[in-house]
Amino acid sequence: MKLNENYRSLSRSYLFSEVEKRAGAFREKHPNQELIRLGIGDVTLPLAAPVVAALHRSAEEMKEKETFRGYAPEHGYPFLRAAVRRHLESCGAAVRDEEIFISSGAKDDLAGILSLFGAGNTVLIQDPVYPVYADTSIMAGNRIVWMKAERENDFLPMPPKDCRADLIYLCSPNNPTGKAYSHAQLEQWVQYADACGAVLIFDSAYEAFIEQDGIPHSIYEIPGAQTCAIEIASFSKTAGFTGLRCGYTVVPCALRRCGQSLNAMWERRKSVSTNGVAYVIQRAAEAVYTPEGSKAVQAAIRYYKTNAAVIVHALQSAKIFCCGGVNSPYIWMKCPAKMTSWQFFDYLLKTAGVVGTPGAGFGAAGEGYFRLTGFGDAEKTRQAAARLVQAAGAL
Ligand code: MLT
Repeated sequence: MKLNENYRSLSRSYLFSEVEKRAGAFREKHPNQELIRLGIGDVTLPLAAPVVAALHRSAEEMKEKETFRGYAPEHGYPFLRAAVRRHLESCGAAVRDEEIFISSGAKDDLAGILSLFGAGNTVLIQDPVYPVYADTSIMAGNRIVWMKAERENDFLPMPPKDCRADLIYLCSPNNPTGKAYSHAQLEQWVQYADACGAVLIFDSAYEAFIEQDGIPHSIYEIPGAQTCAIEIASFSKTAGFTGLRCGYTVVPCALRRCGQSLNAMWERRKSVSTNGVAYVIQRAAEAVYTPEGSKAVQAAIRYYKTNAAVIVHALQSAKIFCCGGVNSPYIWMKCPAKMTSWQFFDYLLKTAGVVGTPGAGFGAAGEGYFRLTGFGDAEKTRQAAARLVQAAGAL
């Protein structure tokens, strides 16, 4: 038997499992200390009422012989594919229903999409970044070329002049830095991908948090993206689906490499690897795009972004460098007193009872930084911000 030897090149544990492990060990030792969790970007508000109503209605349908549904279409029910298409159109991105594949979340497809490509590709990845891109690329036997996202380039690396890539991952608004590429910057990325024949994998999981003009919600707002980009999106952060699980991936029909249609390949792959997402979940996702659903979801996003603003304000008043929190739920801060990310993680946990995510876990260039999220409860976020500033001031 042969194992996938690439697994040997992975770090010992996944970032968020390690954060949980350390926070859990602390809690066991200090059961009476209340922890405020601003680590993993998990939502805390309940589902919007129109989404829950859609879950109820569709569950009721399952109880009648005439409306019961068995296997879902592997690529998604037509009603949801059409709703996603209308949403993308409203952002100025023209896509067709057959280019949209409903998934059980962005993470699943970020890992699965690599099955379209062979091993040994050169992959451009931002550093720091959501660890899934790097880990899955390593598992697939690819060669990673890191692009540093640092203060000097405003945490938004641009295409390298001296390097040819096969695959490029971009996450905008970015996890973890909270920074987002402008239309003009994404144009440069699309031109670069086109010029070197690369496929750009665009993670738009946080597009609903964009508030500034000139920041694309979808890569297909950029001319030329149809022939070089795949977009992976999720209802997790947009509509609180971290527990329900639903997302979508767009693979344009015009995207071809080595004489093959990537859309046809992805359709083939989905046909053999999934029986689709549950009907009730897809009806719930459809409800996100109704006028009532959209209003409720926008209110939740405003709540999270107010939390993010509270954290940014506290850090700025303590003169600690931070960015993000504007088009994003994430705040990326410099660790005070030249601490390393994990040193600051331990210090904050011990002195303030606040859990964040160490920047080094997102890549080597994240060392010395720390990520906080706006996804917490509003009152607890205010407490955490005050405790954080106090703990930093004591250093
Ligand atoms: C994060 O905290 O970066 C995300 O919640 C993790 C994820 O989406 O899997």
